Amino acid sequence: MPPDAAQLLSAATEVRENAYVPYSHFKVGAALRGASGTVYRGCNVENVAYPEGTCAEAGAIAAMVAAGETELVAVCVIADSPDPVPPCGGCRQKLAEFGRAEVPVTLATTAGRRLHTTIGELLPGSFSVAHMAHAARSE
Ligand code: THU
Repeated sequence: MPPDAAQLLSAATEVRENAYVPYSHFKVGAALRGASGTVYRGCNVENVAYPEGTCAEAGAIAAMVAAGETELVAVCVIADSPDPVPPCGGCRQKLAEFGRAEVPVTLATTAGRRLHTTIGELLPGSFSVAHMAHAARSE
């Protein structure tokens, strides 16, 4: 486990309990460390209009940005799933917006399984601001 992953794991485990999941009944908790060292947490929040629901990772990112930080240096996600749950496609793009490719991501199950990966492994070949280099600002 990466050195600071234990703290993120306990934060993600704790916030997972607050997930609002009347439709899927699938609670997810996420915790991430901002560059300052502060830990931010998020859980999934569903909605009767299903597409309006938000993922745990998105909640943690929103908490970080609301606190004035825009760089994350470690991530942990936990759910009660047979295999460690991989972030959805949208959340991979959201994580890549604020974290470098080498940022460690720990995916965990409540039963104790762990998978250690990185943002770059989760989203290889990601679209980034560098791909817009030829776009004129005036257009
Ligand atoms: N979910 C997350 O919060 N994060 C993930 O990485 C995967 C999926 C949530 C969204 C929805 O509330 C529930 O899990 C089932 O898809």
